[in-house]
Amino acid sequence: MGISRRLLLGSSAAAAAGSAAGCSLFRAASATGSAGVDMSGPSATTTTGGSFPPGFAWGVATSAFQIEGAVAADGRTPSIWDAYTAIGGRIADGSTAAVACDHYRRWETDLDLMKQLGIGSYRFSIAWPRVMPTASGKVNGAGLGFYDRLVDGLVARGITPVATLFHWDLPTYLQDAGGWENRDSAGWFVDYAQSVFARLGDRVGSWATINETKIITQLGYQQGAMAPGKRDTLASGRVMHHLNLAHGRAVQAFRASGAHGQIGPCFALAPCYAADENVAPETVARIDLQENRLYLDPLLRGSYPDGLESLGSDFVHGVDSAVRSDDAAVIGATVDFVGFTYYTPAIIGSSGPVQRYPVAANGWQQIYPQGLHDLLTRIHRDYQGPNIVVLENGVPDALGEDPIDDHHRIDFLRGHLSAAHQAITEGVRLTGYHVWSLLDNFEWAQGYTQTFGLVSIEPATLRRIPKASYRWYAEHVASRSR
Ligand code: GCO
Repeated sequence: MGISRRLLLGSSAAAAAGSAAGCSLFRAASATGSAGVDMSGPSATTTTGGSFPPGFAWGVATSAFQIEGAVAADGRTPSIWDAYTAIGGRIADGSTAAVACDHYRRWETDLDLMKQLGIGSYRFSIAWPRVMPTASGKVNGAGLGFYDRLVDGLVARGITPVATLFHWDLPTYLQDAGGWENRDSAGWFVDYAQSVFARLGDRVGSWATINETKIITQLGYQQGAMAPGKRDTLASGRVMHHLNLAHGRAVQAFRASGAHGQIGPCFALAPCYAADENVAPETVARIDLQENRLYLDPLLRGSYPDGLESLGSDFVHGVDSAVRSDDAAVIGATVDFVGFTYYTPAIIGSSGPVQRYPVAANGWQQIYPQGLHDLLTRIHRDYQGPNIVVLENGVPDALGEDPIDDHHRIDFLRGHLSAAHQAITEGVRLTGYHVWSLLDNFEWAQGYTQTFGLVSIEPATLRRIPKASYRWYAEHVASRSR
């Protein structure tokens, strides 16, 4: 049994069998959440606390596939997400990301929106299929040139570029060669990353290696609910290990490149809680292993946690079949910060996951700001007080609320920033926070049915319309940066 962001593992019977394949998809559930998000939960507060540390990086986040569009421009070739969206029935509204926010052409408008927002940090991702569009491995100067201009544009506006190397859009020619199931994928990733470091490494402030290995493992390879749409628990173990290896090798390549700036991972974390006293601590520990420690420990402690067998024999065989003796040191290469995304806690009841807090319109996200505090203090405590960056935190538009007048999002941000501030006062070295997302965009298998932006996009014209939360965040950043 386990709960994760977007996942609800089906039954305790599946858990007893230790079968990760017994999961059912929480994310796919229809939006049953409360319309207006009630922030009167236990940790909701009306302030965001006092000052944040000098130099704190206030930011927003996006990813290439979700905003860029222009999928055939300047030599880009398809990614696994282009392929996945082309399969009928996989995307909630039948949409594609062929246009998305048309950011590839409107990027200057979007950078101006960021400048007006007053943020100092922008997390975006680089599309591998633009940079290395063919199996020849030849670097596509035109594709890389887009990010060159983007980075220059950010620097000119006083915004630090935070570049994610991989946010799920693997080129299809690499998937055809086995994708992340193939151990060679770590080498492919390094070749790609080196070309990006060489071109942008003089200006990018921070690099995130791989976005949310957990979501690729669980949704891409166990649930078949995201690209590449597989249901193969054994393969998911191999994939997870190869993603970890790719991360470690990219960190090493970054150090060798002489690029300036910092590098770290982007975990997807979910703090785990017992719903009541009848839930055994070992049960919570098992879910925590599945949701958090499985990903944190190899990178930050240099080894997988004990107790992997609770994740099922297929998964363990997959991991075992991929691990080689020297991998641990590579995967555990020293990082400069711990980056993570936070959306929902996992509340574990005796007979399955429990919904205790207000549920967002996506149906999988329980709104619990205290969870962010608890994650921050836990990482600080358990992983030797590293610098930490929140790389994503956000909520979709609420059902029944005017999307432009998004007061529930303001409440959400206020609550989470208050929780983050509390953690800082307790000694956590939190150095930055990024709202997901700047723009309403292509929300993967949910298409455009769930929108997380501070800025709305008018479908017919693609005109950008700032929401109330955009103005709130601008005021917040201005007052907290003083
Ligand atoms: C993820 C991605 C984002 C999502 C966001 C909202 O975590 O899934 O990083 O691309 O769009 O988290 O679900």
